Amino acid sequence: MSSEKTADRETVPSSRSDKRLSREKCFLPSGPHDSLPPGQMMLVRISVLGTGYLGATHAACLAAGGHDVLGIDRDAARVRQLSQGIAPFHEPGLAELLGEGVRAGTLSFDVDLARAADFADVHFVCVGTPQRAGSHAADLSALWGAVHALAPMLTRRCLVVGKSTVPVGTASTLRDALVEEAPAGEAVGLAWNPEFLREGHGVEDSLRPDRLVFGVESDTAYGVLRDVYAPILAAGVPAIRTDLATAELAKVSANVMLAARISLVNLLAEVCEVADADVGDLTRILGHDPRIGSLFLTPGIGFGGGCLPKDTRAFVARAEELGLGEAVSVLREVDLLNMRQRARTVDLAVSLTGGVAHGKRVAVLGAAFKAGSDDVRDSPALDVATTLQGRGAQVRVYDPQAGANAHRASPELTVVDSVEQACRGADVTLVLTDWPEFGGLDPVALLDLVAHPTVVDGRLALDPDKWRAAGWDFHALGRGGG
Ligand code: UDX
Repeated sequence: MSSEKTADRETVPSSRSDKRLSREKCFLPSGPHDSLPPGQMMLVRISVLGTGYLGATHAACLAAGGHDVLGIDRDAARVRQLSQGIAPFHEPGLAELLGEGVRAGTLSFDVDLARAADFADVHFVCVGTPQRAGSHAADLSALWGAVHALAPMLTRRCLVVGKSTVPVGTASTLRDALVEEAPAGEAVGLAWNPEFLREGHGVEDSLRPDRLVFGVESDTAYGVLRDVYAPILAAGVPAIRTDLATAELAKVSANVMLAARISLVNLLAEVCEVADADVGDLTRILGHDPRIGSLFLTPGIGFGGGCLPKDTRAFVARAEELGLGEAVSVLREVDLLNMRQRARTVDLAVSLTGGVAHGKRVAVLGAAFKAGSDDVRDSPALDVATTLQGRGAQVRVYDPQAGANAHRASPELTVVDSVEQACRGADVTLVLTDWPEFGGLDPVALLDLVAHPTVVDGRLALDPDKWRAAGWDFHALGRGGG
């Protein structure tokens, strides 16, 4: 994007989240933010393409930051929900923000992409990039679909900002396509601005991120992103300016490092089991080393969700394309170690029911890939549950939030509404998602419900002493006796 005038924007009524910014409103003739007096921020008209976990949260938080935001999704039912301020998935604080934005008229949703092109000067692309069927690479069809559909409608200067997680090198090809396909040509810029939000903390992570990454090719694009994130920058959040490729890599690199860390701790757990050591104590000891730190050091049935597994695989697939297949072999092991945790959990459950799954009653507590979310994508808990069911066990699953999604994803499972229903008559009880509710269960009260007091803690969520004292045969991956 060249440095001349961007489409007219307004200085804003200040962000609702940062009262330090003034509420003065006026029209400015040109783009770059640095012409603004201190304390004012630029109102930007923004579209957000894709309203999944990322897009819906991003749209609501941008509107909360004072901008005018239009969310676009081809799913009409989802658009109807969002337009009424209803969050289509479990994300704490999102419904409140959606409601505020919709009521204030600063946040709206539509299925019509042409409205986005007409309305916005900045277009955030937040569509999903899942794992491609039959491959480890990312499926970029939704991303390219959105860009090919949007480009011919871009008739004036604007900035398209990628937020979706992509293989490195994607952004520059998108930029070339945009310039070629958009009537505005070179006046359409592309930036990359990855997000690091965690499901279940999406609102908090969007409003108060630990860093912002601006992958840009011009000062103008950089200025526009600074306008967009003015309230967050004003709160002192560091912004790192870099090129497109580094910004693309920032996201996958973070997820690959997190995935590797979890697999490494799960490897330590396996050693603990064989050596009759306790991985809970071990990780506490490791966590006190400031170079290691205590976060993301919980062993168990491994990582899942819409990001870590597929980003690790996509990173490997992209590295192979770049001729670095050998260098990334450690990441193939990270993936294998992770999947091995699920298999080990199934094996442990079967061994605890006498070596045969068929006909055994299994209570599975947890279906979401982690606590605080109703997402069951690549969920280790659901994977274990369906594998056991596939081997003939009678599995009953309970999750405080993800029951409906679990039922949709795995209709063969019996999904129930309470811990008690899941545990009634169970031969073995598996705790597979780290919901605090499960950590607080009373093992004495559950004794009357189950057929056999045998429990597997797949998330290091239970207090072994308490459960053993209540009379349970307690097992956990990585804990001696497990
Ligand atoms: C992740 C990244 O954390 C986030 O920055 C990125 O934007 C999207 O991907 P998310 O998928 O929401 O976020 O989940 P996260 O909290 O990272 O957990 C991923 C998986 O790892 C979960 O299945 C979780 O249970 C598991 N996990 C996490 C562990 O097994 N042990 C841990 O110590 C931490």
